[in-house]
Amino acid sequence: MSRSERKWDHIRFALANQEKPFSAFDDIKFIHQSLPNISMLDVRLDHSIGELSLSSPIFINAMTGGGGDKTYRINKELAQVAGATGLAMAVGSQMAAIKDKSQKYTFEVVRKENPSGILIANLGSEATPDQAKEAVNMIEANALQIHLNVIQELTMPEGDRDFTGALNRIEAIVRSVDVPVIVKEVGFGMSRETVKTLIAAGVSMIDIGGFGGTNFAEIENNRRDRALSFFADWGIPTPISIIEADSAANGRTAILGSGGFKGAMDIVKGIAIGAEAVGMAGYFLQTLIERGIDALKEEIETLQHEMSIIMTALGAANVADLKKTPLMIKGETYHWLHQRGID
Ligand code: FNR
Repeated sequence: MSRSERKWDHIRFALANQEKPFSAFDDIKFIHQSLPNISMLDVRLDHSIGELSLSSPIFINAMTGGGGDKTYRINKELAQVAGATGLAMAVGSQMAAIKDKSQKYTFEVVRKENPSGILIANLGSEATPDQAKEAVNMIEANALQIHLNVIQELTMPEGDRDFTGALNRIEAIVRSVDVPVIVKEVGFGMSRETVKTLIAAGVSMIDIGGFGGTNFAEIENNRRDRALSFFADWGIPTPISIIEADSAANGRTAILGSGGFKGAMDIVKGIAIGAEAVGMAGYFLQTLIERGIDALKEEIETLQHEMSIIMTALGAANVADLKKTPLMIKGETYHWLHQRGID
């Protein structure tokens, strides 16, 4: 099977993988305040993370590596949505286009469609510093994501089995590219141990890519004769991972949240518990493919409007205020954090 056929399988199975029986975000509860002392007109969603100035703390997370005309079309449409809504956008892994230059057009299109927006390049941790520079140049990226996907690779029949040296390569990439490097997971979450190690390596942003949304163990299991079903519920739920990461980062490195975010309430909760911004992949892809480009633009505008409504109820005029909002943590999330000594 070619790389672009495999990636199309990923998209098909990812679309079928969006319904989840429960959400760990239900464990987070805001404490109602009757005197928020705020006007909705004063709520602002714009937020700067290091050198990246975001018009809202939502970004379109990496999807559709692999090249081919379908990648081209999806990247083009996502870039149009990002341009129209002012959202930052990450592309999927560019390794296919680095290995086969004829595929570069499938990524270059995002800069053509969105000349002045924030675009984020993407490669796996097998990349060399030269490949990282090439990925950044290909789309004139404002930042570079390096994804970690050990469980996905182990579940893929044709996946990698050797994970040595990733941290050394990440350190070398951080030293050699001149944009911020974001290390991300792809839906299995990051522990505070991982986060501490990445911070020591000089990584300036970490997207914890937690469990609870698109599940690449399930997606890859669909493609195996004998499923590795023990990986289907493997991973750190997104809210837990954000709180673990935030406790390890202690303000030194920006923590981004992703994995299973669907509505405005999830996003507001993710920020309140420690994320500087929230990435969405599967939900946006599903909206784009099933309902079209205008529906996705409208959905993003609605999410932003609903975030402002919730922030008004909480008396939070901006992202910094939201982080001071009192909240309750219950259920499995509470027990996990308690056992990990994070209270
Ligand atoms: C992804 N994701 C991804 N991540 C990455 O770093 N490089 C990649 O090439 C891809 N490719 C990809 C394809 C498709 C079809 C999907 C749905 C996702 C992972 C993505 O960025 C994100 O980490 C996970 O999907 C979890 O977030 P959601 O989908 O639950 O919002």
